[in-house]
Amino acid sequence: MRSRMVAASDTVFFSGHTMKVAGFFLLGLASVFSVQRDNFRTCDNVGFCKRHRALEPGTSSYAASASSMKLNPTSVSLDVLEKKSDVKFTLTIFGLKDNTFRIRLEEKDAMRKRYEPPVGDVLIKVPEGEELKYNGQSGNQLTFNKGTSRVVLTTEPLRIDVYSDDDPVISINSQGLLKFEHTRPKPEAPPAENQDEENKEEAQEGEEEQQKEEEVKEEEVKAEPEEPDMWEETFKSHTDSKPFGPTSIGVDISFPGVEHVYGIPEHADSLALKTTKTTDPYRLYNLDVFEYDLYNPMALYGAVPLMLAHNEKRTVGVFWLNAAETWVDISSNVADKSIFSNLADFVTGNNEIPQTDTHWFSESGVIDVFLMLGPGPKDVFRQYAALTGTTPLPPLFSISYHQCRWNYNDQDDVRTVDENFDKFDIPYDVIWLDIEHTDGKRYFTWDAAKFPNSIEMLRNISSKGRKMVTIVDPHLKRDDNYKVFAEARDKGLLIKNKDGGDFDGWCWPGSSGWPDFLEKHVRDWWADKFSASEYVGSAPNLYVWNDMNEPSVFNAPEITVNRDIKHLGGWENREVHNIYGMYVHEATMDGLLKRTNYQERAFVLTRAFFAGTQRTAAVWTGDNMGEWSHLKISNPMIMSLNLVGITFSGADVGGFFRNPDNELVTRWYQAGAFQPFFRAHAHLDTKRREPYLLPDENVKVIREAIRARYTYLPYWYTEFFTSEKDGAAVMRPLWVEFPKEKATFGIDDNYMIGSALLVRPVTDQGATNANVYFPGAGEVWYDVETYQTYKGQQEVNVQAPLSKIPVYQKGGTIIPRKMRPRRSSTLMFDDPFTLVVALDPKQEANGQLFIDDYRTFKYRDGAYGFIKYSFTSHKLHSNVEHQGSGFTTKEWLERVIVVGLPHEPRKVTLHQSGQTKELIFTYDSTTHVLIIRKPGVNILQNWTISLH
Ligand code: GLC
Repeated sequence: MRSRMVAASDTVFFSGHTMKVAGFFLLGLASVFSVQRDNFRTCDNVGFCKRHRALEPGTSSYAASASSMKLNPTSVSLDVLEKKSDVKFTLTIFGLKDNTFRIRLEEKDAMRKRYEPPVGDVLIKVPEGEELKYNGQSGNQLTFNKGTSRVVLTTEPLRIDVYSDDDPVISINSQGLLKFEHTRPKPEAPPAENQDEENKEEAQEGEEEQQKEEEVKEEEVKAEPEEPDMWEETFKSHTDSKPFGPTSIGVDISFPGVEHVYGIPEHADSLALKTTKTTDPYRLYNLDVFEYDLYNPMALYGAVPLMLAHNEKRTVGVFWLNAAETWVDISSNVADKSIFSNLADFVTGNNEIPQTDTHWFSESGVIDVFLMLGPGPKDVFRQYAALTGTTPLPPLFSISYHQCRWNYNDQDDVRTVDENFDKFDIPYDVIWLDIEHTDGKRYFTWDAAKFPNSIEMLRNISSKGRKMVTIVDPHLKRDDNYKVFAEARDKGLLIKNKDGGDFDGWCWPGSSGWPDFLEKHVRDWWADKFSASEYVGSAPNLYVWNDMNEPSVFNAPEITVNRDIKHLGGWENREVHNIYGMYVHEATMDGLLKRTNYQERAFVLTRAFFAGTQRTAAVWTGDNMGEWSHLKISNPMIMSLNLVGITFSGADVGGFFRNPDNELVTRWYQAGAFQPFFRAHAHLDTKRREPYLLPDENVKVIREAIRARYTYLPYWYTEFFTSEKDGAAVMRPLWVEFPKEKATFGIDDNYMIGSALLVRPVTDQGATNANVYFPGAGEVWYDVETYQTYKGQQEVNVQAPLSKIPVYQKGGTIIPRKMRPRRSSTLMFDDPFTLVVALDPKQEANGQLFIDDYRTFKYRDGAYGFIKYSFTSHKLHSNVEHQGSGFTTKEWLERVIVVGLPHEPRKVTLHQSGQTKELIFTYDSTTHVLIIRKPGVNILQNWTISLH
């Protein structure tokens, strides 16, 4: 397999492509290695990481002054002093609605403002406050109450303990690792030995003034020892000029009583985070990591600094609102019982109370932490959603199957692929075009020889309800004749290098510039590029993929922009690095929505992400490999994204690099069919692997897997609708549904979709069996194909030959499906439903269905149907909970399958509007499955089916 090599000055970067730029002919190499680790910094070559990591737990040198306390109805603020330097800070504790607190620490007299993402960009609004009552002082402790929670602030040494219903749940600075590098003047360089006297005098005059100013500061700020990398750092051949010196911040956050923490994507690691005693801390710094290694804390393409801590009793969340490079150390320890005596109450049978200690540090910004106290996992989802928003209901096509490859070569190729899917009876909704479709990697253009009539191509696929996605990356080829670039340059929209000129870096097109998406006017300019008149050759059924938006820069440190490059608002990239990519896809989404005046929903896929990305893009896990281990890791990686609100996420099916064998491709389709974003993708140099090219046996299995996806679309769609409201993960770790069941806390190869489906993708080569953990004491689970039953709270080794996807429906649930295979989801809009009623041991079940027009925003005005189903006392009830704004549908009910019914009914009747009708049915006494045929009612109606 080939990889790519970009030579620039003395540095060599690999990034997966073969290209000819600036006289270098960049040859593909046989790749015999994985990630080029030395392209990326480890903690050892990041100054602030070393400085924070070197801190030993001990007595904090920070102290709050009780006398400075200012009480407000929903917040309290106090002065804090760092005693070694005498630098002053302001600490503010906010009470927020819904069991949430916010804690901020800022420098009082900072020499330079620190970056904070503007309200509206990460936080959707100023979070709503809730009364915080001061409950008095006892010794050096001040207590503040809010509802059933309280914050205890120890003034000296500074420490904050948060209690929920009297249980200690989060402790800040209890290890004393708080470190806030205050702004400071640059120390004088020692005089050069050969400087002659004359020069010295001249220099002195100019400096006297400056010195006076600095003396004033120095009176307040005691000199601190300077370390070599505080004012300049070098990595490989790149020097970071660090004009503002050290600005990092960090503090420890502990979770007493907790052994399991999750979240802080993106890492290729297990779902439950590991201790970092013997590794680097988990790193959050958006990077283009080529052929990433698994099970390590290296940074990947995106960052969401949200961690969930969970035990049998409670889930809490910590959101560290900071867009700079961030590292998180994790260690598992034992809680200090002298402080947390009542912890012992719920950790029984064990004298030691577990505790997870975490240590967070970022290169710049302020300390701004949100504490969400749950108490359940779904409460934390809702609390975080209130801060950063949720994923809007995706249009139906986008949760269907996507066919991608780097590249579909030309219009003929697209037509052939499209026709073959039909020929082989495999549904698909979207075909994708990668960078080669453009005129020389100039986005918004077409290669005229290969795509002479894109409009016709788009029309052809549209006739079957299908869509296209084209790639639009944020790097603009430096070419005066490329309109988008020339405009961006002439209007001054490009990010600058440290000296003020336009930043010039290398990416796919060679020398490129990057619009500064941090600026609203730049985003508006970009959004307009998607209009039909600007994006010539596009059509309404064309959507967009933003890649390389970390941003990826082949010849810059760590394959991303230099930290000291300047954004238009004056910020250095180091301050805003992790948020840049989100602004790119937000602007893109805005552009797509503008095309229809915000009437039709749209779709954008992004590789880089941040907290808030969920509002405007789906995410995929980047350049994985066609290897079993990468199939396996896709589950925890997507689950981690789901835990932090990025519900619409997936991995390249088949793996991006390398040539997976038929078995692996097949197993990957089976997994992808039950992951939220379902797209096959492959590197330019891989063998073609569209599903119909595989041997018959595999084609058959893949067809079934993709069709299974389509049959469950109504269920996925309903889950996405409810998740837009409550922020809940769609693909859920088992512990989210069974929070008290400790055996589930470490499981990441089984998961739930919503509350009803349990999935255990087979991810091992040659496997014909799989261990499935069925959670829930007293629950019953049904194999969705055979209806075989399994009792909850046990692990079972099930048969899983190649044709089998182990998927189970929980007893007590009702799942809506559409069982008629079609070419695309759009062609299924009016199709009838099948309801699968899986009975629990009490012979009851509940479910729901959301329907609308599957594509517009009209549901936001109430134009949708929401139906609740319940089965109890041998009766299935349909109850239309919502039908608004004149919404009607042709969809109807063609079948009801009742699973787990011990006896055959004598008769089945349908009651509706005072009328009763007998229904035909079959009953299988071995599987205990009743199939009721053709109730024939419109789906948006109330009715009852009775079993007699
Ligand atoms: C990056 C993307 C990959 C894409 C390629 C070419 O490597 O991660 O998905 O195919 O660029 O655009």
